[in-house]
Amino acid sequence: MRLSAPAKLNLYLRVLGRRPDGYHELETVFERIDLADELHLQVHPTDLRLTCTDPALPCGEENLIMKAARLLQRTTGVQLGATLHVIKRIPIAAGLGGGSSDAAATLVGLNEVWDVGLPVARLLQLAAELGSDVPFFLSPAAFAIGRGRGERCEPITTPQRLAHVLVVPDASLSTKDIYEALRQRRRQGSSQIGLTGGGPSLTMVVHALRNGPDMTGLAEGLWNDLAPEAIRRCPSISLIQRGLREAGCLASGVSGSGPAVFGLCTDLNSAQQVADQLRTSHPDFGRIEVVRTESTPVMSAA
Ligand code: C5P
Repeated sequence: MRLSAPAKLNLYLRVLGRRPDGYHELETVFERIDLADELHLQVHPTDLRLTCTDPALPCGEENLIMKAARLLQRTTGVQLGATLHVIKRIPIAAGLGGGSSDAAATLVGLNEVWDVGLPVARLLQLAAELGSDVPFFLSPAAFAIGRGRGERCEPITTPQRLAHVLVVPDASLSTKDIYEALRQRRRQGSSQIGLTGGGPSLTMVVHALRNGPDMTGLAEGLWNDLAPEAIRRCPSISLIQRGLREAGCLASGVSGSGPAVFGLCTDLNSAQQVADQLRTSHPDFGRIEVVRTESTPVMSAA
C-alpha cells in the first residue's frame, strides 16, 4: 500500500498561554500543501521495520511512524507487524509537519492493511496522543482551525487553492526549544504571550479564506507568535521574508516553529516567477519550491 503524506503550513499561529500540562494553548490556521512524503507499507507476520531514503532520519522506536504503529498494535491487540518505507521529501524539523503527517498516514494505512477497522473518531484520539499536529492530517478539509494544543481541528470550508513559494533554510529548529524560549522571554516580561493585543485576528484569516479570493485580507492576516524566536536562532528567516516580498509575494510567513518560510502569491504563475527569480538572485537562501494547497487528504490516498 502506498500513501501520500502531505506537509502543512500555519497561515496564522497565536500562542494564547501556557497550560497546566506544559503545552501551550493555541489558535492556528493550518493549510495542507502538495509537498508530500510517500509511505509504502506491507504486512509482515511478526516484525515492525522502518527504512527511509534520508539517512538523517532515525528509523528506530523514536521515529513517530514507529510510535504510531506501536500505538495501533497496543490499542487493537493486533499481533501482525509491517515493513514501512518512507520516501522523505518534506524537510525535517522545518515547521512543515512532515513527521506528524507520516504518523497520520501510518495510522490510516495500518488500520486498513491490518484490517482492524478503527473508526475515524478513534484514529483522531490516537493521533492526538502522538503529537499536536497529527490530527490535522486526518482532517478531510485542506484548511482547518486548530485549537487546544493544535489537536482540536475545525474544518474551514472553502474552494480556494492558494499558491506559495516555500523557502527552507538549511537549519533545523526544535519546536520544544522555541516554545521554551518564548516562555523565558515572557517571564522576563519582554514578550506579549497571553496578551494578544495587536496584529490580525483569527476571524480575519478565516473570513478571508471563506470569502475568497480575498488575497489582501489573507496577506494582512498572516501571523505567527513563534516567528521572533525562530528568527533569533535563524536570522536568515528575516532576509528570506524580505526577499520573498521584494520578488513579488503579497506577504510572507513562518510555518510552525520554523525555519520554513512561505510567500503568499496571487496565483501559480506569479509563484513560479518569484521562485525562478529567487533561485537566481539568492541561491544561498536554501531550498526554494512552488507549493499549492493540497485538496486530497491522507485518508483517500490509494
Ligand atoms: O505535540 P508535539 O510533540 O508535536 O510538540 C512538540 C513540543 O512542542 C512539545 O514537547 C512542547 O514542548 C511544544 N508544544 C507546546 N505547545 C503546543 C504544541 C507543542 O508547548 N501547543
